[in-house]
Amino acid sequence: MTQTLQILPGDGIGPEIVAEAEKVIEWLRGHAGLELHVERDLIGGQAYDAYGVPFADETLEKCRAASAILMGSVGGPQWDGVDYDKRPEAGLLRARSELGLFANLRPALVFDALIDASSLKPEIVRGLDILIVRELTGGVYFGEPRGIETLANGERRGFNTQTYTTSEITRIGRVAFELARKRGNKVHSCEKANVMESGVLWREEITALHAATYADVELEHMYADNCAMQLLRNPSQFDVIVTDNLFGDILSDEAAMLTGSLGMLPSASLGVAGTPGLYEPVHGSAPDIAGLGKANPLATILSLAMALRYSLERGDLADMVEAAVRRVLNDGVRTADIMSTGGREVSTDEMGSAVVAALSAA
Ligand code: IPM
Ligand code: MG
Repeated sequence: MTQTLQILPGDGIGPEIVAEAEKVIEWLRGHAGLELHVERDLIGGQAYDAYGVPFADETLEKCRAASAILMGSVGGPQWDGVDYDKRPEAGLLRARSELGLFANLRPALVFDALIDASSLKPEIVRGLDILIVRELTGGVYFGEPRGIETLANGERRGFNTQTYTTSEITRIGRVAFELARKRGNKVHSCEKANVMESGVLWREEITALHAATYADVELEHMYADNCAMQLLRNPSQFDVIVTDNLFGDILSDEAAMLTGSLGMLPSASLGVAGTPGLYEPVHGSAPDIAGLGKANPLATILSLAMALRYSLERGDLADMVEAAVRRVLNDGVRTADIMSTGGREVSTDEMGSAVVAALSAA
Protein backbone atom coordinates (compact mmCIF):
# COMPACT_ATOMS: atom_id res chain seq x y z
CA MET A 1 0.00 0.00 0.00
CA THR A 2 1.37 3.41 -0.95
CA GLN A 3 1.85 5.64 2.07
CA THR A 4 1.56 9.41 2.02
CA LEU A 5 4.15 11.88 3.24
CA GLN A 6 2.75 15.33 3.96
CA ILE A 7 5.45 17.92 3.34
CA LEU A 8 5.25 21.34 5.02
CA PRO A 9 8.31 23.35 3.88
CA GLY A 10 7.44 26.43 5.95
CA ASP A 11 9.41 29.67 6.15
CA GLY A 12 12.96 30.96 5.79
CA ILE A 13 15.36 28.21 4.73
CA GLY A 14 12.54 25.63 5.06
CA PRO A 15 11.77 25.33 1.33
CA GLU A 16 15.47 24.98 0.34
CA ILE A 17 16.31 22.28 2.85
CA VAL A 18 13.11 20.33 2.25
CA ALA A 19 13.84 20.39 -1.51
CA GLU A 20 17.06 18.47 -0.79
CA ALA A 21 15.19 15.86 1.26
CA GLU A 22 12.81 15.51 -1.70
CA LYS A 23 15.77 14.65 -3.94
CA VAL A 24 16.53 11.80 -1.56
CA ILE A 25 12.89 10.65 -1.64
CA GLU A 26 13.00 10.72 -5.43
CA TRP A 27 16.10 8.55 -5.46
CA LEU A 28 14.64 6.07 -2.96
CA ARG A 29 11.49 5.81 -5.07
CA GLY A 30 13.45 5.17 -8.24
CA HIS A 31 16.15 2.86 -6.86
CA ALA A 32 15.18 1.37 -3.51
CA GLY A 33 11.54 0.38 -3.85
CA LEU A 34 10.11 3.18 -1.71
CA GLU A 35 6.40 3.57 -2.43
CA LEU A 36 5.52 6.99 -1.18
CA HIS A 37 3.05 9.58 -2.33
CA VAL A 38 4.08 13.15 -1.50
CA GLU A 39 1.64 15.98 -0.69
CA ARG A 40 2.61 19.60 -0.03
CA ASP A 41 0.96 22.35 1.98
CA LEU A 42 1.81 25.50 3.91
CA ILE A 43 2.61 26.12 7.57
CA GLY A 44 3.82 29.12 9.55
CA GLY A 45 4.14 32.58 8.06
CA GLN A 46 3.53 31.32 4.52
CA ALA A 47 0.24 29.79 5.65
CA TYR A 48 -0.66 33.01 7.45
CA ASP A 49 -0.05 35.01 4.27
CA ALA A 50 -2.07 32.61 2.10
CA TYR A 51 -4.82 31.41 4.48
CA GLY A 52 -4.87 33.99 7.28
CA VAL A 53 -3.87 31.35 9.86
CA PRO A 54 -0.49 29.67 10.47
CA PHE A 55 -1.91 26.12 10.45
CA ALA A 56 -5.23 25.73 8.65
CA ASP A 57 -7.92 23.15 9.50
CA GLU A 58 -7.62 21.71 5.96
CA THR A 59 -3.88 21.28 6.47
CA LEU A 60 -4.51 19.56 9.80
CA GLU A 61 -6.90 17.10 8.10
CA LYS A 62 -4.31 16.34 5.41
CA CYS A 63 -1.72 15.72 8.13
CA ARG A 64 -4.08 13.39 10.01
CA ALA A 65 -4.60 11.37 6.82
CA ALA A 66 -0.86 11.04 6.12
CA SER A 67 1.55 8.36 7.38
CA ALA A 68 4.16 10.96 8.27
CA ILE A 69 4.78 14.69 8.05
CA LEU A 70 8.08 16.29 7.05
CA MET A 71 8.43 19.93 8.04
CA GLY A 72 11.11 22.53 7.28
CA SER A 73 10.91 25.41 9.73
CA VAL A 74 8.65 28.29 10.71
CA GLY A 75 9.09 31.95 11.58
CA GLY A 76 10.72 35.14 10.35
CA PRO A 77 10.94 38.85 11.13
CA GLN A 78 8.27 39.78 8.58
CA TRP A 79 5.64 38.25 10.90
CA ASP A 80 6.87 39.96 14.10
CA GLY A 81 3.86 42.27 14.16
CA VAL A 82 1.27 39.50 13.68
CA ASP A 83 -1.22 38.74 16.50
CA TYR A 84 0.34 36.42 19.07
CA ASP A 85 -2.05 33.53 18.35
CA LYS A 86 -1.47 33.78 14.58
CA ARG A 87 2.30 34.00 14.55
CA PRO A 88 4.19 31.24 12.65
CA GLU A 89 5.30 29.49 15.86
CA ALA A 90 1.66 29.21 16.96
CA GLY A 91 1.02 27.15 13.82
CA LEU A 92 3.67 24.64 14.79
CA LEU A 93 2.41 24.48 18.38
CA ARG A 94 -1.12 23.87 17.09
CA ALA A 95 0.14 21.07 14.84
CA ARG A 96 1.94 19.39 17.75
CA SER A 97 -1.07 19.72 20.03
CA GLU A 98 -3.83 18.74 17.56
CA LEU A 99 -1.85 15.75 16.30
CA GLY A 100 -1.10 14.62 19.88
CA LEU A 101 2.66 14.63 19.27
CA PHE A 102 3.67 14.34 22.90
CA ALA A 103 7.07 12.68 22.46
CA ASN A 104 9.86 14.66 20.83
CA LEU A 105 12.99 12.65 20.08
CA ARG A 106 16.10 14.78 19.53
CA PRO A 107 19.23 12.72 19.00
CA ALA A 108 22.57 14.49 19.38
CA LEU A 109 25.12 12.39 17.58
CA VAL A 110 28.69 13.43 16.92
CA PHE A 111 29.92 12.27 13.52
CA ASP A 112 33.64 11.43 13.65
CA ALA A 113 34.25 13.55 10.56
CA LEU A 114 32.81 16.61 12.31
CA ILE A 115 34.70 16.30 15.56
CA ASP A 116 36.56 19.56 14.89
CA ALA A 117 33.36 21.50 14.19
CA SER A 118 32.37 21.28 17.86
CA SER A 119 33.38 24.16 20.09
CA LEU A 120 34.32 21.59 22.75
CA LYS A 121 37.56 19.61 22.80
CA PRO A 122 37.54 16.46 20.63
CA GLU A 123 38.19 14.18 23.64
CA ILE A 124 35.01 15.50 25.29
CA VAL A 125 32.66 14.97 22.35
CA ARG A 126 34.12 11.99 20.46
CA GLY A 127 31.58 9.20 20.03
CA LEU A 128 28.83 11.20 21.68
CA ASP A 129 25.35 9.71 21.23
CA ILE A 130 22.67 11.35 23.37
CA LEU A 131 18.93 11.11 22.87
CA ILE A 132 16.82 13.88 24.36
CA VAL A 133 13.21 12.86 24.90
CA ARG A 134 11.28 16.09 25.30
CA GLU A 135 7.64 16.22 26.42
CA LEU A 136 6.00 18.28 23.67
CA THR A 137 2.31 18.90 24.31
CA GLY A 138 2.23 19.96 27.96
CA GLY A 139 3.96 22.12 30.50
CA VAL A 140 4.29 25.87 30.37
CA TYR A 141 3.91 25.93 26.56
CA PHE A 142 0.24 25.03 26.88
CA GLY A 143 -0.70 25.53 30.55
CA GLU A 144 -3.66 27.72 31.53
CA PRO A 145 -4.15 30.34 32.77
CA ARG A 146 -1.82 32.42 30.65
CA GLY A 147 -1.85 35.98 29.47
CA ILE A 148 -0.86 39.56 30.04
CA GLU A 149 -3.08 41.61 32.36
CA THR A 150 -3.09 45.13 33.68
CA LEU A 151 -3.10 45.40 37.46
CA ALA A 152 -5.05 47.92 39.55
CA ASN A 153 -1.90 49.99 40.03
CA GLY A 154 -1.50 50.26 36.25
CA GLU A 155 1.41 47.85 36.12
CA ARG A 156 1.25 44.98 33.64
CA ARG A 157 1.73 41.32 34.59
CA GLY A 158 2.59 38.47 32.22
CA PHE A 159 1.87 34.94 33.42
CA ASN A 160 2.05 31.32 32.31
CA THR A 161 1.30 28.08 34.07
CA GLN A 162 3.54 25.04 34.31
CA THR A 163 1.37 21.94 34.76
CA TYR A 164 1.94 18.21 34.44
CA THR A 165 -0.40 15.35 35.25
CA THR A 166 0.52 11.79 36.19
CA SER A 167 -0.52 10.44 32.78
CA GLU A 168 1.45 13.09 30.89
CA ILE A 169 4.57 12.25 32.89
CA THR A 170 4.26 8.48 32.70
CA ARG A 171 3.58 8.33 28.96
CA ILE A 172 6.74 10.33 28.17
CA GLY A 173 8.63 8.33 30.81
CA ARG A 174 7.65 5.09 29.09
CA VAL A 175 8.95 6.35 25.76
CA ALA A 176 12.28 7.24 27.37
CA PHE A 177 12.71 3.94 29.22
CA GLU A 178 11.69 1.87 26.17
CA LEU A 179 14.19 3.72 23.96
CA ALA A 180 16.92 3.43 26.60
CA ARG A 181 16.51 -0.36 26.58
CA LYS A 182 17.41 -0.35 22.88
CA ARG A 183 20.45 1.91 23.48
CA GLY A 184 22.69 2.41 26.51
CA ASN A 185 20.01 1.43 29.08
CA LYS A 186 20.39 4.66 31.07
CA VAL A 187 17.91 7.50 31.66
CA HIS A 188 18.54 10.89 33.21
CA SER A 189 15.27 12.53 34.22
CA CYS A 190 15.58 16.31 34.48
CA GLU A 191 13.35 18.84 36.27
CA LYS A 192 13.58 21.51 38.96
CA ALA A 193 12.06 19.59 41.88
CA ASN A 194 14.00 21.91 44.19
CA VAL A 195 11.80 24.87 43.27
CA MET A 196 8.71 23.62 41.38
CA GLU A 197 5.85 21.36 42.51
CA SER A 198 5.42 20.16 38.92
CA GLY A 199 9.04 19.02 39.20
CA VAL A 200 8.36 17.20 42.48
CA LEU A 201 5.48 15.34 40.82
CA TRP A 202 7.63 14.62 37.76
CA ARG A 203 10.33 13.05 39.94
CA GLU A 204 7.83 10.99 41.98
CA GLU A 205 6.00 9.66 38.93
CA ILE A 206 9.19 8.77 37.05
CA THR A 207 10.49 7.03 40.18
CA ALA A 208 7.25 5.03 40.53
CA LEU A 209 7.16 4.08 36.84
CA HIS A 210 10.78 2.98 37.02
CA ALA A 211 10.17 0.80 40.08
CA ALA A 212 7.02 -0.75 38.63
CA THR A 213 8.15 -1.50 35.07
CA TYR A 214 11.67 -0.41 34.22
CA ALA A 215 13.87 -1.33 37.18
CA ASP A 216 16.34 -2.93 34.73
CA VAL A 217 17.13 0.52 33.28
CA GLU A 218 19.58 2.75 35.14
CA LEU A 219 17.79 5.91 36.31
CA GLU A 220 19.28 9.12 37.61
CA HIS A 221 17.40 12.30 38.56
CA MET A 222 19.12 15.59 37.81
CA TYR A 223 18.13 19.21 38.18
CA ALA A 224 17.79 20.80 34.77
CA ASP A 225 20.35 23.53 35.46
CA ASN A 226 22.88 20.91 36.55
CA CYS A 227 22.09 18.96 33.37
CA ALA A 228 22.88 22.06 31.30
CA MET A 229 26.24 22.26 33.04
CA GLN A 230 26.99 18.52 32.85
CA LEU A 231 26.28 18.54 29.09
CA LEU A 232 29.31 20.78 28.70
CA ARG A 233 31.45 19.23 31.41
CA ASN A 234 31.04 15.53 30.69
CA PRO A 235 28.44 14.85 27.99
CA SER A 236 29.35 11.18 27.54
CA GLN A 237 27.71 10.35 30.91
CA PHE A 238 24.33 10.72 29.14
CA ASP A 239 22.40 8.16 27.13
CA VAL A 240 18.72 9.18 27.23
CA ILE A 241 17.59 12.45 28.83
CA VAL A 242 13.87 12.77 29.54
CA THR A 243 12.54 16.20 30.41
CA ASP A 244 9.64 18.60 30.09
CA ASN A 245 8.69 20.87 27.22
CA LEU A 246 10.59 24.03 28.21
CA PHE A 247 13.72 22.41 29.65
CA GLY A 248 13.75 20.10 26.62
CA ASP A 249 13.65 23.07 24.28
CA ILE A 250 16.71 24.59 25.93
CA LEU A 251 18.71 21.44 26.64
CA SER A 252 18.23 20.15 23.09
CA ASP A 253 19.68 23.31 21.57
CA GLU A 254 22.64 22.95 23.89
CA ALA A 255 23.11 19.25 23.13
CA ALA A 256 22.81 19.97 19.42
CA MET A 257 25.65 22.42 19.54
CA LEU A 258 27.94 19.81 21.13
CA THR A 259 27.79 18.05 17.79
CA GLY A 260 29.25 21.04 15.95
CA SER A 261 26.21 22.57 14.31
CA LEU A 262 22.52 22.95 14.85
CA GLY A 263 22.40 22.25 11.11
CA MET A 264 23.00 18.53 11.69
CA LEU A 265 20.24 17.67 14.15
CA PRO A 266 17.01 15.91 13.15
CA SER A 267 13.96 15.31 15.31
CA ALA A 268 10.87 13.15 15.46
CA SER A 269 7.64 14.11 17.21
CA LEU A 270 5.48 11.08 17.91
CA GLY A 271 1.99 10.46 19.22
CA VAL A 272 0.26 7.20 20.09
CA ALA A 273 0.97 4.19 17.85
CA GLY A 274 -0.78 4.32 14.50
CA THR A 275 -0.87 8.13 14.24
CA PRO A 276 1.43 10.11 11.93
CA GLY A 277 4.71 11.42 13.33
CA LEU A 278 6.09 14.85 12.45
CA TYR A 279 9.74 15.10 11.45
CA GLU A 280 11.69 18.34 11.40
CA PRO A 281 15.20 19.68 11.82
CA VAL A 282 15.88 21.07 15.30
CA HIS A 283 17.23 24.33 13.86
CA GLY A 284 14.96 27.22 13.01
CA SER A 285 14.15 29.12 9.82
CA ALA A 286 17.44 31.12 9.74
CA PRO A 287 15.90 34.07 7.85
CA ASP A 288 19.33 35.74 7.64
CA ILE A 289 20.60 33.10 5.20
CA ALA A 290 17.31 32.16 3.50
CA GLY A 291 17.60 31.94 -0.28
CA LEU A 292 21.40 32.18 -0.28
CA GLY A 293 22.11 28.49 -0.77
CA LYS A 294 24.07 28.39 2.49
CA ALA A 295 21.73 26.30 4.65
CA ASN A 296 22.75 22.81 5.69
CA PRO A 297 20.09 20.33 4.49
CA LEU A 298 21.50 17.39 6.45
CA ALA A 299 19.26 17.84 9.52
CA THR A 300 16.24 17.64 7.22
CA ILE A 301 17.61 14.65 5.31
CA LEU A 302 18.31 12.93 8.67
CA SER A 303 14.75 13.84 9.74
CA LEU A 304 13.52 12.04 6.64
CA ALA A 305 15.57 9.04 7.78
CA MET A 306 13.79 9.17 11.14
CA ALA A 307 10.44 9.27 9.31
CA LEU A 308 11.44 6.17 7.34
CA ARG A 309 12.38 4.42 10.60
CA TYR A 310 9.59 5.46 12.98
CA SER A 311 6.53 6.04 10.72
CA LEU A 312 7.08 4.42 7.33
CA GLU A 313 8.46 1.09 8.52
CA ARG A 314 11.49 1.34 6.26
CA GLY A 315 14.31 1.19 8.78
CA ASP A 316 16.41 -0.40 6.02
CA LEU A 317 16.16 2.79 3.94
CA ALA A 318 16.81 4.94 7.02
CA ASP A 319 20.09 3.05 7.49
CA MET A 320 20.99 3.72 3.84
CA VAL A 321 20.31 7.44 4.12
CA GLU A 322 22.29 7.76 7.36
CA ALA A 323 25.20 5.85 5.84
CA ALA A 324 25.13 8.16 2.81
CA VAL A 325 25.29 11.24 5.06
CA ARG A 326 28.24 9.73 6.95
CA ARG A 327 30.00 9.00 3.68
CA VAL A 328 29.52 12.56 2.40
CA LEU A 329 30.97 13.93 5.63
CA ASN A 330 33.89 11.51 5.49
CA ASP A 331 34.58 12.76 1.95
CA GLY A 332 35.02 16.28 3.35
CA VAL A 333 31.90 17.79 1.78
CA ARG A 334 30.79 20.69 3.99
CA THR A 335 28.19 23.44 4.10
CA ALA A 336 29.40 26.71 5.62
CA ASP A 337 28.16 25.93 9.15
CA ILE A 338 30.36 22.81 9.43
CA MET A 339 33.26 23.99 7.27
CA SER A 340 36.78 23.35 8.56
CA THR A 341 40.25 23.26 7.05
CA GLY A 342 40.62 20.57 4.41
CA GLY A 343 36.89 20.49 3.73
CA ARG A 344 35.22 21.34 0.43
CA GLU A 345 32.56 23.99 0.93
CA VAL A 346 29.36 23.42 -1.00
CA SER A 347 25.91 24.98 -1.34
CA THR A 348 22.63 23.59 0.00
CA ASP A 349 21.81 22.14 -3.41
CA GLU A 350 25.26 20.56 -3.85
CA MET A 351 25.04 18.96 -0.40
CA GLY A 352 21.72 17.33 -1.31
CA SER A 353 23.18 16.10 -4.60
CA ALA A 354 26.22 14.73 -2.76
CA VAL A 355 23.96 12.64 -0.53
CA VAL A 356 22.13 11.30 -3.59
CA ALA A 357 25.46 10.51 -5.25
CA ALA A 358 26.58 8.66 -2.11
CA LEU A 359 23.35 6.65 -2.18
CA SER A 360 24.01 5.73 -5.80
CA ALA A 361 27.59 4.75 -5.05
CA ALA A 362 26.70 2.46 -2.13
C1 IPM B 1 11.77 24.04 18.79
C2 IPM B 1 11.47 25.50 18.56
C3 IPM B 1 10.00 25.74 18.86
C4 IPM B 1 9.79 25.46 20.34
C5 IPM B 1 9.47 27.12 18.47
C6 IPM B 1 9.71 27.40 17.00
C7 IPM B 1 8.00 27.25 18.79
O1 IPM B 1 12.32 26.29 19.32
O2 IPM B 1 11.14 23.20 18.11
O3 IPM B 1 12.64 23.74 19.59
O4 IPM B 1 10.02 26.34 21.19
O5 IPM B 1 9.39 24.35 20.65
MG1 MG C 1 13.85 25.20 20.31
